Amino acid sequence: MIVCSLKSSVEKELKASIKPKHVLGLVPTMGFLHNGHISLIEKAVKDCDHVWVSIFINPIQFNNQNDLDNYPKNLKKDLNLIKSISEKINVFSPSIDEMYDDRLRHKNYNFDGIDSELEGRFRPKHFSGVATIVSKLFDLFKPNKAFFGEKDFQQTQIIRKLIEIEKHKTELIICPTVREKNGLAMSSRNSLLSKKNREKASLIFQNLLFLKKNYKKNDFEKLILKCKENIDSNKDFKTEYLEIVDSYDFKILNKFVAKKSLRVFICVKVGDVRLIDNILLN
Ligand code: PAF
Repeated sequence: MIVCSLKSSVEKELKASIKPKHVLGLVPTMGFLHNGHISLIEKAVKDCDHVWVSIFINPIQFNNQNDLDNYPKNLKKDLNLIKSISEKINVFSPSIDEMYDDRLRHKNYNFDGIDSELEGRFRPKHFSGVATIVSKLFDLFKPNKAFFGEKDFQQTQIIRKLIEIEKHKTELIICPTVREKNGLAMSSRNSLLSKKNREKASLIFQNLLFLKKNYKKNDFEKLILKCKENIDSNKDFKTEYLEIVDSYDFKILNKFVAKKSLRVFICVKVGDVRLIDNILLN
C-alpha cells in the first residue's frame, strides 16, 4: 500500500504503474471508513487493476463550522482497514493546502437546479463544494471508474452532471446502501449518536419502507405527515425534510405518476447529527 499526501507523488506513482488498457478505480471518501465504504472499495478491487482511495475532509462542502469540527476522523484505523482488504490499494490523503493552496474557493456549476433541492435547500453551496473537490480528484487521477454510494443519491446525480459538464472520461459506479442490523444507513456520522438514539434511528428506514408499501394508494402529503409525526414524536428527533420526488429532476411529487421514477428522500436531525437516507419506490 502506498500512501501519498502530495499530488506530485500521486502523479509520479500513476506514471510509473499504469500501463495502457489498465483500469484505474477511484473511491473518494472523507475517511472514518465503515462497511458502506468497504463495499465501494471491494467493488473497485473487483472491477479495476489499480485502486486508489482518497481520504480528505473537504471543508468547502460543510456549511456549518460545528459539523466540520465534529466530523469524525481516524486515519490510522482507516489505513489498517484498507490494508486488510488488499495491500495493493493505494491511498491519497492530502492536506487542505495541498488541495486548495490558500484559496478555499468553490467552482461555479450549473446543475440544472438539482443542487438546490432537498440537501441543497438546507446546505447552500454543499454540492458545489462536493463537485469542486471531486473535479480536482478526477483531474489528478483521471480514473476510468469512480465509486459512490446510493445513500448519497443526490450527490451521485451531481457527479453524473459534473462528468458531463467537464467531459471526464470516468464511469460513475453507484453501489447499494449498506445498512446496520436495524436498517439505519451506514454513515460516518452514526458514530456521533448515543447508543440509544442509534438504535432508535431504525425509525428512519422503517418509515421509508412504510412509504414504499403505501405510496400507490394514498395522497403523498397525508402519508408524509404521518411519517413525520411518527419520527418527530421521539425525543431528539426532528425531520428536516421528507419528500417523494422525481429521481431525475428531484422535483417534489404529490401523487403517484406511473411513468416517473419515484424516490423518497429523508433527512432527520438527531440532536446535532444530520442523518440522510433514500430509497427507490418504483
Ligand atoms: O461522499 C463523500 O464522502 C464526500 O461528499 C466526497 C464524495 C468524498 C467528496 O468530498
